[in-house]
Amino acid sequence: MIAEPSYTLESLSAQLAGKSEVDALRTLAELFPGQVVFSTSLGYEDQVVTDMIFANNIPIRVFTLDTGRLFHETYQVWNKTNSRYDARIESYFPNQEAIEKLMSEKGPFSFYESVENRKECCFLRKVEPLNRALAGNKIWITGIRAEQSPNRQTMTQLEWDESHQLFKFHPLMNWSFEQVKDYVRANNVPYNPLHDKGFVSIGCQPCTRAIREGEDFRAGRWWWEDQSKKECGLHAK
Ligand code: ADX
Ligand code: SF4
Repeated sequence: MIAEPSYTLESLSAQLAGKSEVDALRTLAELFPGQVVFSTSLGYEDQVVTDMIFANNIPIRVFTLDTGRLFHETYQVWNKTNSRYDARIESYFPNQEAIEKLMSEKGPFSFYESVENRKECCFLRKVEPLNRALAGNKIWITGIRAEQSPNRQTMTQLEWDESHQLFKFHPLMNWSFEQVKDYVRANNVPYNPLHDKGFVSIGCQPCTRAIREGEDFRAGRWWWEDQSKKECGLHAK
């Protein structure tokens, strides 16, 4: 049975109104003890949120979806982050049998062959583990910013996620990329060195490339697909 939320979007928004990002995160952790989680891709924005959580000892679990296809640099920043804050980013890994079947039947690069194959891989490596990570929780924190895509401009800082039956909170929703970079610099936050090589949004290694001057934020993700198909399913409505 799915429990009804005891807060409405309006009443929870009212609790967070006017608070700084850190205070809002702390408030959520107090209102929903043990039921607030933050998903990190270990990219720039997510490192800011991780810093807010770990540096302020806010009891929010931080996890990453280790797809098995991440960049070496991403694993390095994960390790560096654990040491820097003396904390643990938890790992969710895809189902072993499902990946063995996928790789045995379709080989290691099936996602380049069709959108259907790409979505299958994203489902097995990200969406299914995400569902396990979110199960039983009431608040899902992300590092999403409105500026990242047209779709994200229609989102609000606090949302009700019907498919996962929880609230999503995006503390950096209205931040600019400059603000993110300034925060990282000012607080000496560990970050993925690929950001210095033209990578903006960093996902799996075979599906991410650097972008050129003037290209949009997400141009480096699944670059071989139509703009309209670029949806990995993590934040699907
Ligand atoms: S995606 O939907 O295109 O893959 P993007 O890289 O922009 O997402 O990240 C948006 C948010 O999704 C991040 O702030 C983070 O909360 C979550 N996210 C993306 N990838 C991962 C991952 N591998 N592990 C955990 N969370 C992730
Ligand atoms: Fe698979 Fe690419 Fe999706 Fe990663 S981004 S899960 S490698 S299709």
